[in-house]
Amino acid sequence: MLFLTGMLTLAGCTSENSEPHQITDYQIIPLPNNIAPGIGYFSLNENVQIEVSQESGDLQLAADYFTNWLTANNLNLQSSPKGQKVKLALKVDIAPEAYILTITQKGVLVQGGSGQGVFYGIQSLQQLILQQSTGAFPIEIPCVHLEDAPAFAYRGLHLDVGRHLFPVDFIKKYIDLIARYKMNRFHWHLTEDQGWRIEIKQYPKLQEVAAYRNETLIGHLREKPLQYDGERYGGYYTQEEVKEVVKYAQDRFITIIPEIELPGHAQAALAAYPELACTDGKIEVATKWGVSEEVYCPTEETFTFLENVLTEVMELFPSEYIHIGGDECPKTRWEESAFCQELIRKEGLKDEHELQSYFIQRIEKFLNENDRQIIGWDEILEGGLAPNATVMSWRGEEGGIEAAKQGHDVIMSPSSHCYLDYYQSENEDEPLAIGGYLPLSKVYSYYPVPEELSEEEARYILGVQGNLWTEYISTPEKAEYMAFPRGFAIAEVGWTQQKNKDYDNFTARLQQHVKWLKAEGINTADHIE
Ligand code: ACM
Repeated sequence: MLFLTGMLTLAGCTSENSEPHQITDYQIIPLPNNIAPGIGYFSLNENVQIEVSQESGDLQLAADYFTNWLTANNLNLQSSPKGQKVKLALKVDIAPEAYILTITQKGVLVQGGSGQGVFYGIQSLQQLILQQSTGAFPIEIPCVHLEDAPAFAYRGLHLDVGRHLFPVDFIKKYIDLIARYKMNRFHWHLTEDQGWRIEIKQYPKLQEVAAYRNETLIGHLREKPLQYDGERYGGYYTQEEVKEVVKYAQDRFITIIPEIELPGHAQAALAAYPELACTDGKIEVATKWGVSEEVYCPTEETFTFLENVLTEVMELFPSEYIHIGGDECPKTRWEESAFCQELIRKEGLKDEHELQSYFIQRIEKFLNENDRQIIGWDEILEGGLAPNATVMSWRGEEGGIEAAKQGHDVIMSPSSHCYLDYYQSENEDEPLAIGGYLPLSKVYSYYPVPEELSEEEARYILGVQGNLWTEYISTPEKAEYMAFPRGFAIAEVGWTQQKNKDYDNFTARLQQHVKWLKAEGINTADHIE
């Protein structure tokens, strides 16, 4: 922890008979990188004015978020308050996501390198308000000076809506939590073997057929004989809903990265459009978990379909990055297909892995021509990486290490530390999960830059993401239980510098946060291992 010099003389925070607060008086997650405790308190009451210092749409967004948050917490300011100020301002000489929060007895100043930085300063302020709140004014907020900035540029959580669908209100709640913990990416996994979840107007059968499965596996895939519930399941997000969610995320400085899986995890799409498969047989939307052999056939018809789909996706999502999947694509159908074997020969490819690389590179070229970049799971390394691809490393860190050595950007999301669908506890009564054991402490211990990388190569590690696959998560309540508090550990891995991290300190701060979440009706887990 770095203490700032001069902390005892912060303007307005001196008081003759007071001792400075302790570092532990500020229970903020993720832990700010520089905390200079002050003396005394700022009194938040209904006369406090929120002042936006510059004309800036982003600054106004941050201010609106704060005002709405106060209202949502029954802390209503007067309509024309005349008291002390919470001033929001841009500061040009700090990084865009950095902020400086100065709380004195006379007022609060939140400075950010951009509106986003101010937004993060506000998140820290809100947590201090919650920490001190008795539910009504006045709230005495401990004086402090924070100078803070994220350790990593990419800090994300993922949600699989293919295996189970979650209501728009839940998606918003999840995004709000991502934002409140200073993460900046929501990876929305929208298509799967078991369901296609985004409306694509040019292809109505994606809505009519691919969005619904006939039934769903009961219990774990390992339990034989397999049993099914016999109930049709499904649905999808309309484009209007997607736009609403994208706007909601933008208002919180979150970029949504949509994922359209290819060439594998495509069974639902192939049930709707079987002509895009390599075989003639009937394909149904998958009803059980696991890796499906039904993958897109690399025909011109398939590329046209995917380009049309991606065109609609690009119209909905402003993100520079589109996730194209690329994981778990069995090559059985391609091995058996005369068309694929001829294509391999014609293109001078070595094998089916190079055929997958050919597939991904064509999609990358199309997206690049539309000023977008691709992210793919680490299998996209096999058969040769597409020239501009970013790799999301999930099968350990090896793929990420290899990609960084090749000069490609990397997001670390190894299942060993970042798979929030794994068991978080060894309790006997833990609800069914996919497997594994990933306690909070192990998530927290993660550091996204592997030792194998040189300083130069380490620059390609953009950051970290926690993944929530939902084969065994069918309700929002269970999603909350699996995602939190481990998602907060991901937030701190992404934001707080390695040298400032301390697990005991984290769990001490966490107590309050778990309480706040529960008070909001969020079903966070609270047993800590
Ligand atoms: C993955 O977990 N299949 C990316």
